[in-house]
Amino acid sequence: MDKKLFQFPKDFVWGAATASYQIEGAWNEDGKGESIWDRFSHTPGKIDNADTGDVACDHYHHWADDIKLMKELGLQAYRFSVAWPRIFPNGRGVINQVGLDFYNRLVDCLLKENIEPYLTLYHWDLPQSLEDESGWTARTTAEAFVEYADIVSRTLGDRVKKWTTFNEPFVSAFVGYEEGRHAPGHTDLHEAVCASHHLLLAHGWAAPVIRANSADSQVGITLNLHTVEPASPSVEDSLSARFHDGRINRWFLDPISGRGYPQDIVETFGVKMEFIQDRDLEQIAVPLDFLGMNYYLRQIERSSAIPESKNQPRTVFRTDETTEMGWEVYPEGIYNMLLRLKVDYDFPAIYITENGAAYKDEVAADQVHDPKRLSYIKRHLEQVSKAIEVGVPVKGYFAWSLFDNFEWAYGYSKRFGLIYVDYQTQKRIIKSSAKWYQQVIRQNSVD
Ligand code: FCB
Repeated sequence: MDKKLFQFPKDFVWGAATASYQIEGAWNEDGKGESIWDRFSHTPGKIDNADTGDVACDHYHHWADDIKLMKELGLQAYRFSVAWPRIFPNGRGVINQVGLDFYNRLVDCLLKENIEPYLTLYHWDLPQSLEDESGWTARTTAEAFVEYADIVSRTLGDRVKKWTTFNEPFVSAFVGYEEGRHAPGHTDLHEAVCASHHLLLAHGWAAPVIRANSADSQVGITLNLHTVEPASPSVEDSLSARFHDGRINRWFLDPISGRGYPQDIVETFGVKMEFIQDRDLEQIAVPLDFLGMNYYLRQIERSSAIPESKNQPRTVFRTDETTEMGWEVYPEGIYNMLLRLKVDYDFPAIYITENGAAYKDEVAADQVHDPKRLSYIKRHLEQVSKAIEVGVPVKGYFAWSLFDNFEWAYGYSKRFGLIYVDYQTQKRIIKSSAKWYQQVIRQNSVD
């Protein structure tokens, strides 16, 4: 039987992604200030194995060789984030020129190699001094973000043309301020909801500033979107699924699309939204050039409201294929979400800014063979291709991640990279999935 060839549009962009705290290291070098992740990871009990991002992949010192590896893989684009405390050690005010120079060099070298920089301003490493002033629960943090976005876009805006304000504001707000699993580690729903509003406000305020500083640039925001399904057709499971979809997906998609916060979720949260001021919602709904979508898994919701024996039998089951994170592998979910974005929201363009999987990789004879990661990425790309076929404007794909790196609360125990990192020696090994991805880029197709 002929295998189907999934061909991508000619101008489709192939890349890989990283984030500052997860790869840079050099946590206190060259004038960098402390971030909430420095503080959090230095707090006993917060991170598996007491790991920290102090050194990580030491990309701060290995960046030039790392770009050579990107070149070798044939990447056309590289998504990375800037560490805010490298630029403003105290969050605002005095600029640390050495920090800006690091990103100047990085961007110049990427462009020299014909790799387009896709810059994310905020991938979770808030300056600790701003957290000391109440972090994202304070409106003044959104103001400080605009100052930071202004300086970075003024400095790099002549060369960087793809800008993402925030990575996954859901995680910053709800995992950081309600669930407490991420920095700053608070557990207060009101704080989380308030933080989500200020994150979105900062996005809305920064977008026009970036556009003014960077001619012909494209500005977007990246959301983590999960497909959420009820475990059964019972009312309870359906309501539970509706709530989780609302909390993760609609809470962010709706306001950036000019619809305000979803009323059903406002009611379920039961939080007084006194922090919303006149015109905030209008400013949050700033026009976007693209939506960045991070997709990893499907979430199946079973209500805890009634005992399982009284609930309807399940009709939806997790496939038994999971990654090292315990996340279900469900490639159809990326198609479903893309289709929904088209039907319900209609963004002008979408980039898959993250997609990938953690597995237990082992080095044997200086090679890393990772067929499961290859299969994960391949099957997701097939679904992306199908979505493009039905008219969803997906413009590019960034594998998460270019390197094994510091996986937040899991430390170094989860390896997501196309490139293996030996944290003792900082040696990099190109995994077999990366060699396959190199082929995909070359052919612009998956077969
Ligand atoms: C996303 C994050 C990214 C990485 C992946 C696995 O939520 O944006 O930094 O940790 O998950």
